Amino acid sequence: MLVNPEIRQKLWKFTLRTPYSSDYLLQPKEWGKKIDIKKCFPDHIKNYWLELGSGWGEVAIELAKKNPTTGFLLMERKIDRVIATEEKRKELGLENIRYMTVNFQWFFSELLEKEMFETVLINFPDPWPKRKHHKNRVMKPKFLEEVHNLLAPNGRLLFATDYGPYARKCISLFRKTSKFNWEGMEEYFFDRPEFPRSFFETEKRNEGKQIYYLERNKV
Ligand SMILES: C[S@@+](CC[C@H](N)C(=O)[O-])C[C@H]1O[C@@H](n2cnc3c(N)ncnc32)[C@H](O)[C@@H]1O
Repeated sequence: MLVNPEIRQKLWKFTLRTPYSSDYLLQPKEWGKKIDIKKCFPDHIKNYWLELGSGWGEVAIELAKKNPTTGFLLMERKIDRVIATEEKRKELGLENIRYMTVNFQWFFSELLEKEMFETVLINFPDPWPKRKHHKNRVMKPKFLEEVHNLLAPNGRLLFATDYGPYARKCISLFRKTSKFNWEGMEEYFFDRPEFPRSFFETEKRNEGKQIYYLERNKV
């Protein structure tokens, strides 16, 4: 995703220096070599989900409990959050979760194979409310293209935010791309029944914040 080769090289070196290791952590090694996701999960896994910015992992843990034949790959750059998720995973004996501590705004499509994931989940990405920081937001046309590439045919992207202007921006982004569409009349929902909620989401709801859920299908 990064265009400047010099910066890319520096960030790649930084990415390789994860001060944590676990059998469940997928660590990139060689530049240009994609991670063989199927080999990293047990044989009984039938399909894969990718969660970007998985935080403390509450959502993925719940989903993994309910869907033992789905493999969940979690990308989260904060190691303490990955370690906390790993502790919960271990306690529950779940074998269908793996992590990457990679910054998904740096290396993303470089490390993952095309059409691998049935679902890509992005819950509450940083909204960067100030106009001068909008460039840092993850939801951009190029990023959507990359997500489109990673999704399997008929795959879907699930997105949630508690920040109305970001939700509206995303709705407008999706209107402008032919790579995703949505089912039915609703472009967004205020609820996502039967879907697990993280502590962050619960906190926002308790504060009375409106949550916007977007669901898009790969075209
Ligand atoms: C507001 S929290 C939401 C966490 C979780 N999705 C939830 O619903 O509770 C955003 C998370 O995304 C992670 N994050 C943000 N940008 C990231 C990036 N570029 N690469 C990896 N993780 C990122 C942050 O470290 C943080 O844990």
